[in-house]
Amino acid sequence: VRIDGVALSVRQSLTDRELDTLFAAAWPDHRPRQYGPVLQRSLTWITARAADQLVGFVNVATDGGAHAFLLDTTVHPDWQRRGIGRRVVTAAITEARMYGMTWLHVDYEPHLNNFYRGCGFRSTDAGLLHLTRGQ
Ligand SMILES: CC(C)(COP(=O)(O)OP(=O)(O)OC[C@H]1O[C@@H](n2cnc3c(N)ncnc32)[C@H](O)[C@@H]1OP(=O)(O)O)[C@@H](O)C(=O)NCCC(=O)NCCS
Repeated sequence: VRIDGVALSVRQSLTDRELDTLFAAAWPDHRPRQYGPVLQRSLTWITARAADQLVGFVNVATDGGAHAFLLDTTVHPDWQRRGIGRRVVTAAITEARMYGMTWLHVDYEPHLNNFYRGCGFRSTDAGLLHLTRGQ
């Protein structure tokens, strides 16, 4: 799919460097990581590219049963508020449905309530625990 020069792909191969560059631009505390072990466990993931640049990403994890989880939804700051985030999340929803998942979960900070509601999610109470910081 190509709208405004931004192309979405499913399960497209991508390098650690590409993801680190995107995450470092969008997440202030980002530290470089290795993503092979993460993505090999994924149900799927969606990438958005403008020319060759990775400008958007979302990872879809699963328990292997009925549940899937959106993780690391990210759009490069230079490309935000153009609908790319909604497009990658919508593509992830379509893929999770195609894989036969029943539930799709996501957690997020309160200011993104409208973003995820706009993608079709309803709010629910949820718990989150940082296992090394303890909160
Ligand atoms: C959250 C994020 C992925 C949204 O991507 P995006 O491409 O800018 O989002 P979209 O353009 O599709 O936004 C669609 C709508 O969601 C809402 N929205 C998007 N970003 C928002 C924000 N930061 N604050 C409040 N509402 C927001 C708006 O209603 C927006 O529509 P509008 O631009 O017409 O007002 C992006 O801001 C990002 O990468 N942020 C940093 C990382 C992060 O916090 N990720 C979330 C992990 S849970």
